[in-house]
Amino acid sequence: MPHLEISDLITATDPHSGARLPVRRDEVIRRLHEAGDRRGARIVEALPADRQGVLDPAAVDRLMIDVHTELQRLSEELRIGERLVHVLGPLFDAIRATAVSAGGGTPLRLVDIGSGLGYVIRWLAAHGALGPDVELVGVDLDSALVGEAGRLARAEGLDCRFVHGNAFDLPEAATVYVSTGVLHHFRGPDLAEFFRAQAASPALAFCHFDIAATRLAPVGAWVFHRARMRHPLGRHDGVASARRAHTDETLLHAAAAPGMRPLLYEPRGLANPFCTTLRPVLGVRPELEAPLRRAMGRAARRLVGPEQLGGAPR
Ligand SMILES: C[S@@+](CC[C@H](N)C(=O)[O-])C[C@H]1O[C@@H](n2cnc3c(N)ncnc32)[C@H](O)[C@@H]1O
Repeated sequence: MPHLEISDLITATDPHSGARLPVRRDEVIRRLHEAGDRRGARIVEALPADRQGVLDPAAVDRLMIDVHTELQRLSEELRIGERLVHVLGPLFDAIRATAVSAGGGTPLRLVDIGSGLGYVIRWLAAHGALGPDVELVGVDLDSALVGEAGRLARAEGLDCRFVHGNAFDLPEAATVYVSTGVLHHFRGPDLAEFFRAQAASPALAFCHFDIAATRLAPVGAWVFHRARMRHPLGRHDGVASARRAHTDETLLHAAAAPGMRPLLYEPRGLANPFCTTLRPVLGVRPELEAPLRRAMGRAARRLVGPEQLGGAPR
């Protein structure tokens, strides 16, 4: 049975025009029942719809913003910003130190794909964490979240911006693409296509953080979301996302896009299963690997390529 996330089902966007599409409540309920998810179906039954049974878009937007606000609190608690900087700091140091950035003084740009409410980009901007030469941009398919991310950034007086766009047709060029909690949304050939599009761009690296697929991940997600999230949709999707997390082998296989060296930080064997939540799969231009390892110091021991991991993708 597939594990479905309600937030993926209650919003729909035309991939070409970016326009919002109507979503029928009974259709979402049918898909959840087909997946054996009665609890998810009950959550959707409670959402408001018009006489034709189309979900109320304003209510869905409010719900998405509420759930992502709770998600931001979890990210604060898990200190996701620091986790990103632990890898992105050395990555940008390596980029600055190598000839690949020989443009000298060319602004560097980090683009967060699936930025949601923009917590990561806003945190990096608020802390000046990557340096003043790194422009910070968030991209998301959900225009309500993009609008709210921009509003928060303005209210906080932050130097960053948010753009509506699709991960498979990226509107913003980047030096480094990043994401948090997005990879498990992409299944089948979409996962490799996600990495391939970035590898085919002028970007020097990508660094995508997602839930480590440990046996403890669904249990940990249940406890954590139960304790910290009030809305049943957030609790439901939090557990579903841990169940859908890709294995180490699948991630490294998919990230092996032409022109990129795939690397996984803290694979299962090297991670403490009680502490590991989000960790990244990277792709770096081959000439960046040695400077990245130097910049990471001892932590580079936890950076492995497919040859160290072995095993077929699942
Ligand atoms: C689980 S949320 C993570 C949000 C944010 N990165 C965070 O960590 O709080 C997944 C996000 O990916 C976005 N998303 C899903 N598919 C996308 C696509 N094809 N292009 C851009 N964004 C997408 C969703 O709108 C949602 O905001």
